[in-house]
Amino acid sequence: MSQTLNNSIELSQNNPLHSLEEWEEDLLNRYPDPHSIVKEGKTTQEYRNYETPTRDTVKEFYRLNHINQTYDFVLHQKAEFLKFDNKEMAVWDAVEFLNQLVDDSDPDTDLDQLQHLLQTSEAIRADGHPDWMVLTGFLHDLGKVLCLFGEPQWATVGDTYPVGCAFCDKIVFSEFFQENPDSNNPKYNTKYGIYKPNCGLSQVHMSWGHDEYFYHMMKPYLPEPALYILRYHSFYPQHRENGYEHLMDERDRQMFKWVKLFNPYDLYSKNPNPPNWQELKPYYEDLVAKYLPATLKF
Ligand SMILES: [Fe+2]
Ligand SMILES: [Fe+2]
Repeated sequence: MSQTLNNSIELSQNNPLHSLEEWEEDLLNRYPDPHSIVKEGKTTQEYRNYETPTRDTVKEFYRLNHINQTYDFVLHQKAEFLKFDNKEMAVWDAVEFLNQLVDDSDPDTDLDQLQHLLQTSEAIRADGHPDWMVLTGFLHDLGKVLCLFGEPQWATVGDTYPVGCAFCDKIVFSEFFQENPDSNNPKYNTKYGIYKPNCGLSQVHMSWGHDEYFYHMMKPYLPEPALYILRYHSFYPQHRENGYEHLMDERDRQMFKWVKLFNPYDLYSKNPNPPNWQELKPYYEDLVAKYLPATLKF
């Protein structure tokens, strides 16, 4: 077998999703829009009881995620990527860079990354929330550039969860954690693992992906609630399932109000009508300039 063929097999085996959006589409199966439920006259319960057959690609994606996200892997990724020595870009260039991740599996309904960011931020703005929250909506997925640095999908997107302690059974496809080496390591496989009860999530290592990466990048610039949104917006096992109360402190509980407020804008703002970027650009240029330096180190 040729080297190229080997590489492409390796790539697709490591990256089962047709696009990063497939993970987010699957989230909508798990957490359907409550408003569309009301419109169609269905109750949340009916929706919950309806088991959408999850596509094999999503299942395989979670299998890879769950067996590979170990405590050591997370520390390794942090040491590697939190040096921020991959690329220096203005926010605009980063958005354009990210837009190379185009979903070609369903061109009619899927919008590019810029549209998702803008639809999220515009929905937040329309509801009159503070400008830093609008900016957070606009930036929240920029960490997905990890994928363009050659990182596998399972280390870029997906639900996030703590490592260094037992994996909660409320995590989607939690059965796959049986194959994660940490599940057999007595240091990490107890309820608290290396942590203390209610130590606070700032003490906790989260599984590695775009959330953790971009949170660290924004630490010097954005207010605390924005940082909570960035770090935990894919932490469905807590913000939707309450599976990690035992690690949270009072501050986390207060700040998670913002994470929960943000989540529907991320999940349910998708709309087939793309916002007019040319019209909106001056507003976002001012907003970015208010909080961020001219370039960011990725
Ligand atoms: Fe995200
Ligand atoms: Fe998002």
